[in-house]
Amino acid sequence: MKIYINYQGINKFPAEIERQLKKHLQNAFKLLNIKKKIVSLTFVGNEEILELNQRYLSRPYPTNVLAFPVEEGQNMPFLGDVVIAVEKAEEEACLYGLNFYPYLLSLCFHGLLHLLGHDHEKGVYSPWLMLRNEINLMEKIYPDPEVLKFLRRREYMPAKLAVNVDHVATVREARKTYYPDPVHAAVLAELGGADGIVVHLRLDRRHIKERDVRLIREIIKTKLILEMAIDKDLIKFAKEVKPYQVTLVPERPEEITTEGGIELEDRVEEVKKAVKELNKSGIKVSLFINPDEKALELAKKTGAQIVELHTGMYADAEEEEKRLSELTRLENAARFAKDLGFIVHAGHGLNYENIGPVAAIPEIEEFSIGHSIVSRAIFVGLKEAVKEMKELILRARS
Ligand code: PXP
Repeated sequence: MKIYINYQGINKFPAEIERQLKKHLQNAFKLLNIKKKIVSLTFVGNEEILELNQRYLSRPYPTNVLAFPVEEGQNMPFLGDVVIAVEKAEEEACLYGLNFYPYLLSLCFHGLLHLLGHDHEKGVYSPWLMLRNEINLMEKIYPDPEVLKFLRRREYMPAKLAVNVDHVATVREARKTYYPDPVHAAVLAELGGADGIVVHLRLDRRHIKERDVRLIREIIKTKLILEMAIDKDLIKFAKEVKPYQVTLVPERPEEITTEGGIELEDRVEEVKKAVKELNKSGIKVSLFINPDEKALELAKKTGAQIVELHTGMYADAEEEEKRLSELTRLENAARFAKDLGFIVHAGHGLNYENIGPVAAIPEIEEFSIGHSIVSRAIFVGLKEAVKEMKELILRARS
């Protein structure tokens, strides 16, 4: 096995690190039973990886590793190139509290597996299979406990997509007609691959009505998620209809859409009571909250099973710097929430352009998306709009 190491835009690693890397990669080849092949490893800076990611994958952000296998079917000794962004890897290792070398090695293994035909962006099981192989190599070659823990927590199925159909009802209510019907929308969204249907029964009933909730509950084959404010009559209604999940949200009559996460500071007892009551009827409860440790700690006191992290600040960020800092905030909050034992969901303001980076956060199990999907449906149909979003979510996991 031959391994060529190149550098672009960054300083070379010390000779000792290069030697160690080559030795560990040779071990990986042996374990994978690969003989007489050649691999090129190129270490680059953030600028270089951003350019490659943009040029070859149309993704306008730096990533940690890219792999360029030689074309399939060519039985050549050269397997291809693995490009690793060292600055990005350092940033991530620091963010996740990992030692740099074993994390870098895990990225090398990730790229190598790509060269061997693994692709976590294809199908439902391939991300899992690829990760299993990465974990296996790390366990045998460099069993760093923190990196292994980190990899193991990424052993997940792809995130789910719950589609919010409120805005189909918004169009209906604009003319007070009986169409378009959010009930029809729910069925089409399921046909497009939605894993759940979300409706927000607002206190002013400006879009979704009780009738919609009841019919959707009857008709869908996935799960119904009812968003609502903490209100005695709404709790009574939820207990009667029994959705799979209730998401508690704050609500202000004059707002255009939900504006922020629920403020729990002085409301823990009130929320706890609502959670208990809904749980007693077999309904899971999610709290829509801002991606902050303080909010998560308070949420834990309420007994809710799920938290939905508010992605609105990330979605609304106009400057790149702000967008990246909001993304980091979401990553940290997702990890913190998972460690507290929550099932982690996220949503608000997510669209076809901004879903990629958040959908890559491994702890997030489900996204709740409405406005962008219903908007796209005007042009491509709802089934197609849901399918496209689902594909982006599947693809983002790496
Ligand atoms: N999650 C919650 C709690 C919401 O209130 C909303 C808006 O109804 C969404 C997700 C979906 O947001 P959007 O329509 O911007 O995708």
